[in-house]
Amino acid sequence: MSEISDAQSEQTIQQRSLAKYRKRAAAYDASCGPTWPIRERAIAALCLQAGQRVLDVGCGTGLSLELLRAGVGAGGRVYGCDQSPEMLTLACRRQAEAGWDNVHLLHSAAQQLELPEPVDALLFHYTHDVLRSPVALARILGCARPGARVAIAGIKYFPAWLAPLNLWVYFKNHGYNGAPGELGTPWDRILPALDDWRMTPTQFGMGYIGTGRVAAANAA
Ligand SMILES: C[S@@+](CC[C@H](N)C(=O)[O-])C[C@H]1O[C@@H](n2cnc3c(N)ncnc32)[C@H](O)[C@@H]1O
Repeated sequence: MSEISDAQSEQTIQQRSLAKYRKRAAAYDASCGPTWPIRERAIAALCLQAGQRVLDVGCGTGLSLELLRAGVGAGGRVYGCDQSPEMLTLACRRQAEAGWDNVHLLHSAAQQLELPEPVDALLFHYTHDVLRSPVALARILGCARPGARVAIAGIKYFPAWLAPLNLWVYFKNHGYNGAPGELGTPWDRILPALDDWRMTPTQFGMGYIGTGRVAAANAA
């Protein structure tokens, strides 16, 4: 594909996602109960330490913020970014109500994100569109220090023996993403930028948690 059509399809995917989350935002939190243990596991895998800086990529309504803040403590900093104004408004409300002054929320697509400092850890929790965008990935990795810990959780296709269920997985994913599909190995575009990659299937194989570290060549 040419650079122009790449950029056009990138914009189309972002527009589709924005439209989906405009409708989904209000009911989003209520739909996240079943994946709460996955969120806890992914955040635990970041092994956050007091004073560190962490970025919640596509932070949505901010459901991970409290756990991330607990990890870095009052002396650390939590950044969150999301392109959906409806989702980010709910995250900002959560932050304001809790009075977290070390949580900084940015209304920005991952593709254009700018942070004031490199972070020590990156969380991608159910952010399929960001993981499929090379432009967004380059930008996010450039916001991290070399060796920064990365945790990724999301949906993927079941293994071959459960393949008939993958039509359902596809349509489930379709409701949330501008670029549905590509669910075989959804992490494969970030993989070349990471060291120490480990992937653990979850939910009988229709989910995964992956961890790694940002390789020096791709970092800030
Ligand atoms: C399934 S939600 C996950 C939200 C949150 N990470 C969570 O775990 O609850 C996906 C989020 O990614 C955001 N998103 C999608 N594409 C994005 C992009 N290119 N840049 C920033 N955010 C994006 C959506 O607006 C949405 O809030």
